[in-house]
Amino acid sequence: MTAITQLNPKNLPQHVAIIMDGNGRWAQRQGKPRVWGHKKGVESVRRSVSFCRELGIKSLTLFAFSSENWRRPEKEVSTLMQLFLMVLQSEVKTLHKHNVRLKIVGNLTPFNDKLRANITKAEQLTANNTSMTLNIAANYGGRWDIVNAAKGLLQKVEQGKLASTDLTEDMFAKEIQMNDQPELDLLIRTGGDIRISNFLLWQAAYAELWFTDTLWPDFNQQVFSEAIAAFVNRERRFGCTGEQIRQLAQSSKG
Ligand code: IPE
Ligand code: IPE
Ligand code: MG
Repeated sequence: MTAITQLNPKNLPQHVAIIMDGNGRWAQRQGKPRVWGHKKGVESVRRSVSFCRELGIKSLTLFAFSSENWRRPEKEVSTLMQLFLMVLQSEVKTLHKHNVRLKIVGNLTPFNDKLRANITKAEQLTANNTSMTLNIAANYGGRWDIVNAAKGLLQKVEQGKLASTDLTEDMFAKEIQMNDQPELDLLIRTGGDIRISNFLLWQAAYAELWFTDTLWPDFNQQVFSEAIAAFVNRERRFGCTGEQIRQLAQSSKG
């Protein structure tokens, strides 16, 4: 009873987030500099976005740069920033063509003017797209997100719009990043480590967590579909396979 017909798209996660880890190790294993791994990782990003589109997953959130990643060697940080700018410029047209809305989530203030201008441009261009939302978490930290939400609420208290005793979880949730999107269902981490690294702390409260040793540049539809099958099975106990998830994606292309 695991026919593909039983795999109702409604049972798929609506919002998937990925901690894209392992680029540096992937490169080092082939005797290449770490940044080579970051460059290769862009292909995994493309593959993941297409797969989500095919499956009708509404939101994909990718952890590209954490608030702690500034501690890396200056050269790696500057290469990552350049890569971010280049990818933003080169990919936005394709995303737009595919009706994908792009959002950059995180504290954007430390980014240079050129990068910030490109972010605004890309977000504005794709703002009304409806096939799915791609959130890129850049200079993002889960604790920053929570503090930022608290600041928003404090402002309301100061303005007399809210009494601190009336504060509810729902009000807090409305100030948290990506509050306009489906709740996070599935959080994936590649690269073998079993930790959250200050990613979506609030949003992950009820998400299924799925970890793989696969390094990010090797992440493909096969691995992604295993993660989604694990989600479907944990939630619905259907006993579906990664192969069936891939068939579902294929059938939507037909
Ligand atoms: C993740 O890969 C990408 C970023 C943090 C930008 P890493 O660069 O952390 O790769 P490893 O974990 O060192 O292999
Ligand atoms: C998490 O990976 C951040 C991103 C994938 C952007 P890290 O490699 O920075 O995490 P830690 O330092 O191992 O926890
Ligand atoms: Mg890492």
